[in-house]
Amino acid sequence: MDSSEYIKKRIQSLKQDSEEIRNISPVTNDFDSWSVLKLILHSAAVNMYTKVLYNNDFDDLYYIDALAGSGISTYNSGESCFLGSPVIAAKVAQEPFKKMYLIENDDDKADALKARMEYIFSTHDDAEKPEELVIKRGDANQKIPEVVSDIWQNSEGQFNYYCFIDNQELNVRWDAIEELTPKPWGDLLINLPIASAIGRNATTTPVPEKLNKFYCCDLNEQNLPNSDIRPVMRGLYEDCLAQRNRAVQRTVNVDANVGSYEYDLVYATRDISGGNGYIKVIDHVKEFIEDVDAGDIDNIHSVLYDDQSSLEQYLPAGNIDDEIVAEDNTDTDDNQSSLGEFCD
Ligand SMILES: C[S@@+](CC[C@H](N)C(=O)[O-])C[C@H]1O[C@@H](n2cnc3c(N)ncnc32)[C@H](O)[C@@H]1O
Repeated sequence: MDSSEYIKKRIQSLKQDSEEIRNISPVTNDFDSWSVLKLILHSAAVNMYTKVLYNNDFDDLYYIDALAGSGISTYNSGESCFLGSPVIAAKVAQEPFKKMYLIENDDDKADALKARMEYIFSTHDDAEKPEELVIKRGDANQKIPEVVSDIWQNSEGQFNYYCFIDNQELNVRWDAIEELTPKPWGDLLINLPIASAIGRNATTTPVPEKLNKFYCCDLNEQNLPNSDIRPVMRGLYEDCLAQRNRAVQRTVNVDANVGSYEYDLVYATRDISGGNGYIKVIDHVKEFIEDVDAGDIDNIHSVLYDDQSSLEQYLPAGNIDDEIVAEDNTDTDDNQSSLGEFCD
């Protein structure tokens, strides 16, 4: 498939029916224009994940959104909106999840999210309804262990999860990630606030406890440099994930070139023999995202509102492997249980 066509579909998935779904509740999240890029990656990741794993006979696939939001994000003083990550997941999934666990600590947002999810499942044919929708109210650090234990209790045979952790601050601590890894097997998409919450705090001595708890190691023993700290902190986080059997990673850097506005999106899956053809789709989306500059971002937003036909000019050339995005992959192996394992 033409990669520009694939990415165009992902971009359109962020807006489709968004005004209608927004109207279900007055409660929304705030959004900055660059957030559109993380949602494009999330949309691609869920879309591929559900296709590849379903085609490999997994009994149960789970969706976990650790910082789920209200289902709608607005920007531009509320004039414009995008679908939230759980709504996108339901709409772009190629097969239904067994359960969707949506964790949110703000009660109003959790209520709005519940109403929106129930609405799309009852009125929108394109939304893949899970066997069960679980809205978990409270701190993700406490709720993730509950989700993991629920998954173990409910599943027999092969199962796997996709988990989106959309940190804005140092929200989800390392001990919660440890509950998710190495088992149960699953893929993680983690928003790493590399400039603001991480970079800002990492050069303080001693390193603030909150930042230390975000990592798997004691940062005070890491001999951190005083400058150019971001690549070091990125590498340390990737190492932490690799130590928990999530060694295959693609880190997408979103940099608005305005000082502290920069974040990384780390996609992490398991290393398997035979390579990870699946991760090539992430590579295409990464290339597109990292090429976007400030002018493009404004234009992408305006074309999404006015004239989607002119979206073409922002999209990359080249192809995405049809085996991954368009055709069934029927190779199976009983010992395999992570996404990367099914892509040669
Ligand atoms: C960036 S927003 C999520 C946006 C969502 N991923 C999306 O794309 O639509 C982060 C959400 O996490 C919630 N939140 C922040 N810290 C939390 C925590 N420790 N546990 C659960 N929810 C939290 C906030 O109330 C907010 O709605």
